[in-house]
Amino acid sequence: MNKLFLSLLLLLSLQAISQKEIYFSEAKFKTGDQSEWKASNFDDSQWPFIKTGTRWEDQGYTRYDGYAWYRIKFILPSSLKQNAYWKDSLSFWLGKIDDVDETFLNGVKIGQTGSLPTDVGGYETQWDTYRIYNIPANSSNIYWDKENTIAIRVYDNTSGGGMFGSIPFVKMLTQSDELEVSISSNTAPPPNYNTSVENISAKMVEGIWAISIKDGAIDKIIRSTSKAVNISGLKKITEKINMAGIAGNKRIEIISSFKEKHTGDIKSKSVVTPYILTPPVSAMPRINSALVFGVRPNSPFIFKIAATGKKPLQYNAENLPEGLSLEKATGIITGKVSVKGNYNIKLNVSNQLGNATQDFQIKVGEELALTPPMGWNSWNCWGLTVDDEKVKSSAQAFIDKGLIDHGWSYINIDDGWQNPERTNAGEIIPNKKFGDIEALGSWLHNKGLKFGIYSSPGTKTCGGYTGSYQHELKDATTYAKWGVDYLKYDWCSYEDVFTKEKDTSLQAYQKPYQTMELALKAQSRDIVYSLCQYGMADVWKWGDSVNGNSWRTTGDIQDTWESVVSNGFDHPELFSYAKPGNWNDPDMLVVGKVGWSGTLHSTMLTPDEQYSHISLWCLLSSPLLIGCDVSKLDDFTLNLLTNDEVLAIDQDILGKQAQQKIKTKDVQIWVKSLADGSKAIGIFNMSNAYKVVRLNFSDIGLKGKYIIRDLWRQINVGVSQDKYESNIPPHGVSLIKLTGK
Ligand code: GLA
Repeated sequence: MNKLFLSLLLLLSLQAISQKEIYFSEAKFKTGDQSEWKASNFDDSQWPFIKTGTRWEDQGYTRYDGYAWYRIKFILPSSLKQNAYWKDSLSFWLGKIDDVDETFLNGVKIGQTGSLPTDVGGYETQWDTYRIYNIPANSSNIYWDKENTIAIRVYDNTSGGGMFGSIPFVKMLTQSDELEVSISSNTAPPPNYNTSVENISAKMVEGIWAISIKDGAIDKIIRSTSKAVNISGLKKITEKINMAGIAGNKRIEIISSFKEKHTGDIKSKSVVTPYILTPPVSAMPRINSALVFGVRPNSPFIFKIAATGKKPLQYNAENLPEGLSLEKATGIITGKVSVKGNYNIKLNVSNQLGNATQDFQIKVGEELALTPPMGWNSWNCWGLTVDDEKVKSSAQAFIDKGLIDHGWSYINIDDGWQNPERTNAGEIIPNKKFGDIEALGSWLHNKGLKFGIYSSPGTKTCGGYTGSYQHELKDATTYAKWGVDYLKYDWCSYEDVFTKEKDTSLQAYQKPYQTMELALKAQSRDIVYSLCQYGMADVWKWGDSVNGNSWRTTGDIQDTWESVVSNGFDHPELFSYAKPGNWNDPDMLVVGKVGWSGTLHSTMLTPDEQYSHISLWCLLSSPLLIGCDVSKLDDFTLNLLTNDEVLAIDQDILGKQAQQKIKTKDVQIWVKSLADGSKAIGIFNMSNAYKVVRLNFSDIGLKGKYIIRDLWRQINVGVSQDKYESNIPPHGVSLIKLTGK
């Protein structure tokens, strides 16, 4: 056999060939960056192989950030083109790439997603975007029936790195690739749905369009229609979906699918209606506050008793320590306590229908955040477009929509509030988007809310705004003057200082957080300290030693299931680091309207994924920071955020994080021990189809008889000694509490 034939055979064995696609499960890989690596004739024979479906940090390149290249050689058979109905474009589907890529075919650039640090405007990640690059099939740069080389230059900013999400492949562009099927709803209840198919190519597409409505729980199609349609080039056809007679609050799947006539390819979209599980809040008084609150001696105390029930409510607190007083009409307790100790208070809230009482402990000592902070942060909705008005409107909505009555209390401004220049005295000041920030602080306090702010130990924040580098004490003093109760301190451009100092010891990672710790300690006000450095140097092991109350364990969250899984589900080993005053933080919530900019969209998570997201964050004892525009909360999201039995799992005073007790391909079971001896259990269906899951109590080490409570529905669903079984929707959860009987 000649050499060429042998190497062709080798290539063919590496590239699995199906009829229509050629998959690339492996590539040659090298860290670093050299422009000759894009050339097709570059000799990469000494480079090691790497898998393309998994990030490089999971394949031995631990903590490697920066540039790296993937090179894939493959033979492109002309039969691929001959067998295609459309013959005009070759299409590369490369999966997701963390963070930015530049892709070359035989040395010629065919695409880029995200911005490299050297690009105009600077670095911008697009880690969660699928890369699809199309090129004309008659391009002289494609070598039909010969060897081709795809070279992908990747820039990874932090954590993860490289190709992931799916196995990349190349194929001929087909009609269904050029169709976009969508389903949209208006917000007015009951929602009305439209579905459309848009042909984004210039050519006519023909096929059968089917729309069906399904009850997935019993696998029953309730209604379906189908018809033959022709869609001219660049045209969109729309249909209103007939929801008549379908219960407004049921979980229903709407499926719109288009089957292309010549290829038989199907393009479809499905949505799940936002079904509400939790009953409306009762008119009877109920106290929802966390059962404990920590404050330092002589620090200003501010705490609003969170309570629901028909208004007006009358609040009462017996045995308040000296120095504190309660405003009976609002439930806001303020003042200062000078003597250390644990003070046991009896709270009472009444209205014309009755009253509720609750034990509450104020711990005057050194520890803050004895339960995970609950509030709002501007980042996931407004990004750098945050301004005074946007903060106030979410804060006002906390009151108007009653979130404050369920224990939500922090209003935190993230990046984007700082002026580029400090005052002559070196003081940090807000930029023009904010008026009097001290006045904003007292406005929040007067309403019983708390005030959070954001900075970086570097010279600049992640968004390029002024950071605290070498101004730490000044900034902490300014924050205290403004009435700040919470600081998120984000590593970001501190990376430059870190790199310059050429010290990668643990102390070097801790240093900037220690500096700010001391600056905060010097203030006569309590400022909850939230460390944001994405989990570097195992921050959970030392965050407490710099007085951190919480620490981010991962990179930034996005509103996709993959992101919720990687931030929330993928770090079960951290459970032992959570305790009162110290919380693992898998990042802020991505429910409601998010966008990280001036333009918002409804979260891309399905309703089931949102139930899972909130359930898991509560099981993890995570800080709960709503990341959406609260002034535009829809009924579903409001319901999701105001289930007191679910929130009580997060706020449980034992402060234990759930442990992942069972993990199979399709099911995860997480168990959290609660202060009253009961267990909160999340049974998650990680698969894409309904699944009946049986939890055997013995499998999670439980013996005895238990009352089983469904926490989302707030109903007892039975008593059992051995098992609990439930039919769980795709990516959904059954969140239960087992109490010994
Ligand atoms: C980082 C953080 C985010 C947000 C932005 C602000 O990416 O992880 O939560 O604070 O910076 O620029």
